[in-house]
Amino acid sequence: MVTTQRALAPDFYDYAWRPLRSVAIDGSFLHLRWPDGTASVVFDLWLRENAVDAGGVDLATREGIMDPAHHHDGPAASTAEITDDGALVVRWLPDNVEATYHPGWLRHVADGRHLPSSWLPEPVAWTAAIGEPPTYDGSEVLSDDAVLRAWANDLLRHGIARLRNAPTDHDFLAQLAAKIGPVRDTNFGPIWDVLADISLAGSDDTNSTANTNLRLPPHTDLPTRETPPGFQFLHCLVNDTEGGNSTMADGAAVAAYLQDKHPEHFEALTTLRWVFFNRGPNIDHRWSGPMIDLGVEGSPLTFRAFHPVRGFPDMDQRDIPRAYAAMKVFSTVAADPHFRLHYPFAPGDIVGFDNRRVLHGRDAFSAGGARHLRGIYIDQDEVRSFVRVANRRHAHATSSTI
Ligand SMILES: [Fe+2]
Repeated sequence: MVTTQRALAPDFYDYAWRPLRSVAIDGSFLHLRWPDGTASVVFDLWLRENAVDAGGVDLATREGIMDPAHHHDGPAASTAEITDDGALVVRWLPDNVEATYHPGWLRHVADGRHLPSSWLPEPVAWTAAIGEPPTYDGSEVLSDDAVLRAWANDLLRHGIARLRNAPTDHDFLAQLAAKIGPVRDTNFGPIWDVLADISLAGSDDTNSTANTNLRLPPHTDLPTRETPPGFQFLHCLVNDTEGGNSTMADGAAVAAYLQDKHPEHFEALTTLRWVFFNRGPNIDHRWSGPMIDLGVEGSPLTFRAFHPVRGFPDMDQRDIPRAYAAMKVFSTVAADPHFRLHYPFAPGDIVGFDNRRVLHGRDAFSAGGARHLRGIYIDQDEVRSFVRVANRRHAHATSSTI
């Protein structure tokens, strides 16, 4: 068959050309094979739905436009061939439409690179043995894409990563967030201040234990939401107080420890529900969930751990004593030095962490002196999208194979 003139992928990404060797129709399935022995079996209607500019995927939006109600009954491919340069061409029933498929795009599916985990680092659980959060020089982060990409990858890998020596401009955190994606607004506002004086912070609607000089035990923010904010970023502008070190513990490591050493408590923590709520004159946010919310397979681990906003047991009364017992063990383990990083905040530090996975806290600090942090939330989806795009671009710039 002649060389194909155009084979578009049903998305906007660049794929290396990975010529196919053969195709065979087997009822409603097509068997694809590459010269290196890689094989892939695809269902005909799925392939039909991914025909770009041929009734499956719209050329402009690269989104599917085929109504499942109009799918062909029975095997839909009448012929299938490989072009001289390795693209797949299929002629479809019932209207004899011909569609050409990019073999590199088909190969990325065969290799599993289409899954949500693709282009993302594998999470790595950690304990206090790592010493400090992964740290990068933030002085040029707005213009240095390599630093931004490395830092963002560590946010997903370790659930925590720090920039040091970043500017202490009031608006710097918002500029940095804009490089990653839309911020997650809450009743604290799209960007919020953590100040030592409660009278200076918060809105009319809300305030928080964060705006005191009290110790904050290991916790996650806003477990009062169906989906708590994904990542939290704290930017230190001023800190001349005594004490107030940050504490961080990896919930992934804490959960694994509890499951291994205290399986009965782990069962209680992952199944018995509590009502969490944010109380304010004009707000009433509530959600009921277990303290360790495992979600469905593939969803992020979510800790609902913040006693100031834990309201009511939402379980059988007979379960309440063991829920309290499990919660005490959990809070003790999460604060144990074995799991806990412990470090000061310096002006110019920006610490990003997975608010659903990493349990953060701080020591009490002196009432005198000034301490000013600014905070922003960005949801998991945005950070993951940013990292996929950055990693794919980096791979494309440094290699011909993506
Ligand atoms: Fe917090």
